[in-house]
Amino acid sequence: MRVSARLDRLPPYLFAELERKIAAKRAAGVDVISLGIGDPDTPTPGLVVGALAGAVADPGTHQYPSNRGRPELREALARFYERRFGVELDPDTEILPALGAKECIFNLNLAFLDPGTVALAADPGYPVYAGGPLLAGAEAELMPLLPERGFTPDLQAIPQDALGRARLMYLNYPNNPTGAVVPPGFFDEVVAFAQEHDFLVVHDASYTETTFDDYVAPSFLETPGAKEVGIEVFSLSKGYNMTGWRTAAVMGNAEAIEAYWRLKTNIDSGMFEAVQLAAAAALDEGDAVPREMSRLYERRRDLVISALREIGVEVAVPRATIYVWAPVPSGHTSASYCELVLEESGVAVSPGGAYGPNGEGFFRISLTVSDERLAEAMDRMREGLRVGS
Ligand SMILES: Cc1ncc(COP(=O)(O)O)c(C=O)c1O
Repeated sequence: MRVSARLDRLPPYLFAELERKIAAKRAAGVDVISLGIGDPDTPTPGLVVGALAGAVADPGTHQYPSNRGRPELREALARFYERRFGVELDPDTEILPALGAKECIFNLNLAFLDPGTVALAADPGYPVYAGGPLLAGAEAELMPLLPERGFTPDLQAIPQDALGRARLMYLNYPNNPTGAVVPPGFFDEVVAFAQEHDFLVVHDASYTETTFDDYVAPSFLETPGAKEVGIEVFSLSKGYNMTGWRTAAVMGNAEAIEAYWRLKTNIDSGMFEAVQLAAAAALDEGDAVPREMSRLYERRRDLVISALREIGVEVAVPRATIYVWAPVPSGHTSASYCELVLEESGVAVSPGGAYGPNGEGFFRISLTVSDERLAEAMDRMREGLRVGS
């Protein structure tokens, strides 16, 4: 059997070795605590589950959905964006539901890229920003996110050749995996740069609702001129504990959204309408949910930061997301440190290099296990690890 050349272009799966070691530890009876994946451990709120139960009992939701989405969901998204960000959107032309931010980001590559063209992708970053362009037969030009620039790309450092062929730029604030938030003025710089170089900005807003210490994350679409050059992908996965529901939406530039819709009608048949109505209920009635979840993650963040400091890992305190991004102690690579943590403490954390070359030298801790398990993981790390070990 031969797989496509397109599939062969994907880089090796960098978590594979770590996953193999975790499985071996578990098989040997070790109670491994995994802080690897960012998937909320608490259930989807009752108001959303209740709304789904009501909607699913209505036969009117049972047939093929339209990829345009139910007006109830598009209107709820428009109300949410107006209330939360002060951004006005036309529910008919500037909003489209997506089956998760991941689906949307991947398919945008198919909608906008051809062989020879480029997507500018944050490094480190959510892996689909770099893998999606390859699967679309195009190229990803990685934009380093460095701590000294607050994990924002240096736009002036993007090579001219790549810039000339760029059709998309992926950005994501609050940021996975670094936990960084967008510095004031950066989105304005991006809008001017996209106008000058004529590419579409895709801002991944998966973490805007998970913020700490009174920080309120902006939408990219709040930036003057953003709608002319960009779109934003908003997801209910993390803020509303709905990862399994596959609920997201893309908003902003109407022409870009129409292109995504044209592609999508050839690929999938939209979001189950009962889920659309449940997502609308979450957006209309669930403002308290992400606030409450943020308080939970803020507590867990503090626990992790103090434990890391005790074992000599100096770490910047994130103001958003469900991750702590920490430098590995000197003498280690990301992978060797993650192996050491697993070996010495039975705790699995993610090697930064898996998120791109500029993730090397860091590791990521996810805050999505129960308080008790997280506290136990930190106790084990305190006992098992010292600087230089
Ligand atoms: C930055 C980022 N974008 C998108 C996603 C996927 O979101 P969704 O569940 O909406 O597909 C994730 C999930 O971890 C993420 O970290």
